[in-house]
Amino acid sequence: MALLKIAKMGHPVLRRPADPVADPTDAAVRRLIGDMYETMADANGAGIAAPQVHVPLRVVMFQITPARAGRAGEDDDAGLPLTILINPEVRPLGDAMVEDWEGCLSVPGLRGLVPRHDRIRYRGLLPDGTWLEREVGGFHARVVQHECDHLDGILYPQRMTDLSKLVFESEFRHVVAEMAAGTDDDGMPEAANA
Ligand code: NI
Repeated sequence: MALLKIAKMGHPVLRRPADPVADPTDAAVRRLIGDMYETMADANGAGIAAPQVHVPLRVVMFQITPARAGRAGEDDDAGLPLTILINPEVRPLGDAMVEDWEGCLSVPGLRGLVPRHDRIRYRGLLPDGTWLEREVGGFHARVVQHECDHLDGILYPQRMTDLSKLVFESEFRHVVAEMAAGTDDDGMPEAANA
């Protein structure tokens, strides 16, 4: 396995639609998956998509550690083991949207408040060529939407509706303080890079 260079916002590979994978069990795909995992883990990411390592193919992976999982009662409150998806498809369930903070390995140093569909159904091929299908909500649904957007050439700032909520990580503590002052919410999950 190898650490791969991460493409940053502005690189053309992040703006083009990625190509479908013809054979998910191909040795080159297996190698790509291993390299993506090593790169994601090294960067402490919650997820990564192949275009982020300069490979324009429809491959994503994501995991949710218990520390990053949603609030108690959400689908993902126990975390989620590594999921690798090839040629994934996402469909919203209902019209409800929710906002939360996101980061991206391709947009280093920034955080943004991003509206996403609250609940989705997604499916995709696993590396063994079988299909996985899930209905999810919460942070799990957010990470999947973020990663699959990468396959369509979309970065999270393009999903934002209020660019005053695009902030540097080094100033994020001010956001946390403002939110804590405005509500009795006892905290929010750390925005995860994905
Ligand atoms: Ni990202």
